[in-house]
Amino acid sequence: MDSFRNAVALGHLFLRERVRPGDRVVDATCGNGHDTLFLAGLVGTEGKIFAFDVQAEALAATRQLLEEHHCLDRVQLFHVGHEEMAIHVTAPVRGVVFNLGYLPGSDKSCITRPETTRAALEQAADLIQPGGILVAAVYPGHEGGGEEAAAVEQWAGLLAPQQYSAWCSRQINRSSNAPYVVTVQKSTLKDSARHA
Ligand SMILES: C[S@@+](CC[C@H](N)C(=O)[O-])C[C@H]1O[C@@H](n2cnc3c(N)ncnc32)[C@H](O)[C@@H]1O
Repeated sequence: MDSFRNAVALGHLFLRERVRPGDRVVDATCGNGHDTLFLAGLVGTEGKIFAFDVQAEALAATRQLLEEHHCLDRVQLFHVGHEEMAIHVTAPVRGVVFNLGYLPGSDKSCITRPETTRAALEQAADLIQPGGILVAAVYPGHEGGGEEAAAVEQWAGLLAPQQYSAWCSRQINRSSNAPYVVTVQKSTLKDSARHA
């Protein structure tokens, strides 16, 4: 797989670097289930994935894909917005993935939105364990996408550097509307001491 092909593939590269068999992780926007399936491969049979989406058809598609790949057993699906993540996921997780925007091939009016995305990002940053990461594929190109992208960057840009490392990866040989990746790593105690 070409990890530098697009924003989602690059996000997967970062997740592959951190997530290990047996880990607990969150897919905050499961959509057609491709990210959930990718995470299922990383965490293996002993791991656990909490997957959220507001659309019933997205959850059905995710369920079907995971069944086809015999890994539904390690996934818990939630038909609720990711802004309720902290109600359903109460113990620390190693990684969280957001793939923002709309479900490809579906209703383009059902998009992730700045306020709920921001609320979910805050909860995700609290939930990740030290050394864990949050990866967001951000799409500024559709209507409303620019405002959401700005909200994501504003949120990540204000995280305390002693506690989090926030990165933005853009493909500079594409239009400024091209999808990109925001990655946030939570510092370990050792990292924080180095910063002090
Ligand atoms: C780009 S798609 C996700 C693609 C998916 N990760 C995949 O691999 O196929 C964005 C998804 O976010 C979902 N969504 C919109 N608002 C949401 C919210 N508040 N909480 C959770 N999911 C939401 C949409 O229904 C849509 O399925």
